Formats: sequence, structure tokens, C-alpha cells
Amino acid sequence: MATIPSDPLMDTMPLPTPRLQGGLTLEAALKKRHSTREYLADPLSLEQVSALLWAGFGVNRPGSWGRTAPTACDSQEIVVYAVLAEGAWRYDAREHRLLRARTGDLRALTGTQDFVSVAPLNLVYVIDHEHLQLEDGLDPEEHGVLAGADIGCIVENIYLYCAGAGLATVVRGQLQRRELGAALGLRPHQRVALAQSVGFAGPAHTH
Ligand SMILES: Cc1cc2nc3c(=O)[nH]c(=O)nc-3n(C[C@H](O)[C@H](O)[C@H](O)COP(=O)(O)O)c2cc1C
Repeated sequence: MATIPSDPLMDTMPLPTPRLQGGLTLEAALKKRHSTREYLADPLSLEQVSALLWAGFGVNRPGSWGRTAPTACDSQEIVVYAVLAEGAWRYDAREHRLLRARTGDLRALTGTQDFVSVAPLNLVYVIDHEHLQLEDGLDPEEHGVLAGADIGCIVENIYLYCAGAGLATVVRGQLQRRELGAALGLRPHQRVALAQSVGFAGPAHTH
């Protein structure tokens, strides 16, 4: 299995083609889905990161750029960041690759709970309000509801992928959103909404 490259000068990380066979049935994954808050420090392989990102919000219909998770009016306004020990990366679903956002290990900034700096991967879900294309007349609160629902669909894809692949995960709303957004170099129309840790369950959770 390929490890994640750690070269700080590398700005683009191509991801291997996700392996789409194997794992559990959807019903079995639904039975196993749960949140985990204790992680081993073991890193994920590049293949695992690739498959996970594809399952979460990858392109599943290349002809129309359709995604694995629905979004309101097909806005596709959610940007997924992968915060790894090797740096913080933005997921480019169309090219199925990672684009560097920041160098260095920002995992500790992705939440307020201790395990976030141990889990090998923390996904950060950002709402890009410039891409939220909704019908006229909706107020900001309605935009928030719809964008939150869009993120929820991605979150559940990740939960089910993890359940099927023997990985552990938890979605997190306890965040310092402004600080994390600044660390990721976000622009004013881009807002951190939620994060999700992924890795291997610690001893208390392996059953
Ligand atoms: C929107 C949202 C925010 C959450 N925020 C946190 C969080 O900040 N920290 C945490 O440990 N769990 C968080 N959770 C996970 C829930 O606590 C968890 O799903 C719930 O306790 C049920 O447990 P289960 O997922 O194992 O069924 C969040 C879940 C959701 C849906």
C-alpha cells in the first residue's frame, strides 16, 4: 500500500483510482455505523484516503460531474479539506486529487477534543457560499439549512464507507471555526461548518 507523500514542496497529490469492490453490503454497513472518539496513531494509506474521499463526495457520473452525495440544486458548494499529518489538502473531485492548502500538521486545530490530533485524518467541510446556487428569495438561514443538509449527506457516506472498510469515524461540530478557517487560508465567502475524524479505532473500541 502506498504511503502518503510528505514532501512539503509537493502542491498536487494525485490519488490512486479508488477500489470500488469488496467491503460489506450496505445493510451490514448500516448495522455497524457508529461514532468513535479514541484513535490509534497509525496512518491511513493513500489508497484508503482515495477511496474514502471518493465515497464521501467523489464524482460517480463523470459525464455530468454527478457526485456520490446530493446537493441542493446540484450546487456542489461543499469543499472537503483533508487534514493529514503531511499537510492540509483540498479535495479536487473532478480530477480526483488533493491540492495543497497548507504545509505542516494542522490536525490539532481541527477541533477541541483531544483525539483530533491523534486521528490520522480529519476532514473539514467548508461551505463555499459563492457556489450555493439556490432559488431567489431564500434568506441566509435557509441557505444554512440547505448547506448543512448537503454536508450531512457527505458525512453519512463517510460513516458508511468507514463501517464497510473497518475504519473508525466521528463527525464533529465542536470547532473553532474562525481559527480553523484562517489556518486553511479560506476566503470570506468560505466558512468552516463541520469536521470528521477518520482512522483506526483505539483499544476500547475494537470489537
Ligand atoms: C451535526 C453533528 C455534530 C456532532 N458533533 C460532535 C462533536 O463535536 N464531537 C463528538 O464527539 N461527536 C459529535 N457528534 C457525534 C454524535 O455525538 C453522535 O453521532 C451521537 O452521540 C450518536 O452516536 P452514534 O453516531 O455512535 O450513533 C456530532 C454529530 C452530528 C450529527
